[in-house]
Amino acid sequence: MTRSADKIIVALDVPSKNDALRLIEQLRGGISFFKIGLQLYTAEGPEVVRAVLATGAKVWLDLKLHDIPNTVGRAVESASDLGVQMLTIHLFGGSEMIRAAVAARKSKMSILGVTVLTSSSEQTLHEIGISNKPGDQVLRLAKLGVENGIDGVVASPHEIKSLRAAFGNKIAVQGIRPTWAKPDDQKRFMTPREALEAGADYIGIGRPITKHPTPREAVEKILDEISE
Ligand code: C5P
Repeated sequence: MTRSADKIIVALDVPSKNDALRLIEQLRGGISFFKIGLQLYTAEGPEVVRAVLATGAKVWLDLKLHDIPNTVGRAVESASDLGVQMLTIHLFGGSEMIRAAVAARKSKMSILGVTVLTSSSEQTLHEIGISNKPGDQVLRLAKLGVENGIDGVVASPHEIKSLRAAFGNKIAVQGIRPTWAKPDDQKRFMTPREALEAGADYIGIGRPITKHPTPREAVEKILDEISE
């Protein structure tokens, strides 16, 4: 497998464990890192995480934890016990919550922080009493996360450069579209190659691969595009 393939994480945004395992089977030998988010986890629970790990793949558990420090800490412990490689928390939870998450980790699992969701605009931040512009808030939260021990941040492709300039931590991005793919509902996307060139460590890709008639072919086209 090429190094570029190691940087691609496929989002298992599917309704059931069987759908997820079918997709993993189709991508076997090409992709070995998968993201399980709220849809699949709520439907199937930790069982689907164990099933994906049992295929030999790595798992990014994207639960975006945000609660009181003790509760987040105990949830991080449970995720560590499952054996996932990456977990997300919301940095909006503040320093005490972030430290509780970092301290509760038992394995080598990376903890990535979510700053401002890309669905949030300046107006959304104002609604909840934050007067910063989204870009400034992203940097503020990323700094808070890094100072309190997180391993990296989840970012939009357009934030990679400013985050890279400020921190050496891992950056995982989503909102990626290969040149040949439909944008779907993504508006400010980047191609896989642009995102890697800008400094992303991991690129999360969903529908261009999962909705492709031949997912394997989609991965091959993406790898070709990256290496061109
Ligand atoms: O659009 P696509 O199907 O590639 O989305 C892949 C994953 O990235 C989905 O799980 C989606 O929720 C997530 N995501 C995103 N854009 C963001 C943040 C997360 O598409 N800005």
